[in-house]
Amino acid sequence: MVAEETPKGLAANRFKVLVEQRSGGRIGVQVFPNGQLYGDHDEMQALELGAVDLVAPSLSKFGRIGLPEFELFDLPFLFDDLNAVRRITQGPLGQKLLQALPRQGLVGLGYFDNGFKQMSANRPLLEPGDFVGLRMRVQASRVIAAQMRALGAQPVTLAFSETRLALAAGVVDGTENPVSNFWTQAMHEAQTDLSLTNHGYLGYAVVTNERFWQHLQPADRTLINQALQESLAFANQIADTQNDQALQALRQAGTTRIHSLNSGQRERLRQAVQPVQQQLARRIGPRWMKDLQQALRQA
Ligand code: SIN
Repeated sequence: MVAEETPKGLAANRFKVLVEQRSGGRIGVQVFPNGQLYGDHDEMQALELGAVDLVAPSLSKFGRIGLPEFELFDLPFLFDDLNAVRRITQGPLGQKLLQALPRQGLVGLGYFDNGFKQMSANRPLLEPGDFVGLRMRVQASRVIAAQMRALGAQPVTLAFSETRLALAAGVVDGTENPVSNFWTQAMHEAQTDLSLTNHGYLGYAVVTNERFWQHLQPADRTLINQALQESLAFANQIADTQNDQALQALRQAGTTRIHSLNSGQRERLRQAVQPVQQQLARRIGPRWMKDLQQALRQA
């Protein structure tokens, strides 16, 4: 879905190199960045049909295929830092989520980061009142939609590939994404202000089709999985740097004002989105939320 110079694009290219080297060229990997083959609407279906073998959608996009539990990653102000994210992705809760994928004929092979999301629009977004009346593009996640509503904005679900144009045409007024996505999609050409809210996490799960996975020779499955795990670890190492570099490039481009929040502003945003947690608990059941809170408390 995203550009090659993002954590996901770089990890996909690393995976290609590792698999091709280690198999002596016997196994080829083709990487299609920038939604060249499929978009948010049809990539999962393409995977289920076997038209592609691996996809790495954002965790926010699993709700629409009948796995709303994944939307817990979208809860605003849930994670203090990436260590907190690891307590979920590398712990029993993360495994339990991946184990739900066979329900849809899919196999989950692992998680990796992009990073924390920032808010953009043609005005600073520092206080809940700043969002009132704005049409904000969101991914197909009911949690993210609820977050925007709690802030007084109107969520508009759009495919990632349509977002840049929709911003430029004024179909939507703003959006949220980590800076690497914002920069590589040239959203800065359509948005005058980026507010460093760090309000939510954007990560991915790599998924494959169960038929494809089981059809591989066991030795090839091991080779591919090993290369993938190394590529995901690589993505996690570089994700922060990619977002920092994108922010630096954005500052240099000078198109977009960049705002930091003070602690009072951050706290008021956090308070405003509190109801979103209870709404998700009602949909997926309080057990998930209890397990989530417990996992986050573990040092
Ligand atoms: C992605 O990083 O894959 C896309 C995220 C989005 O749709 O906002």
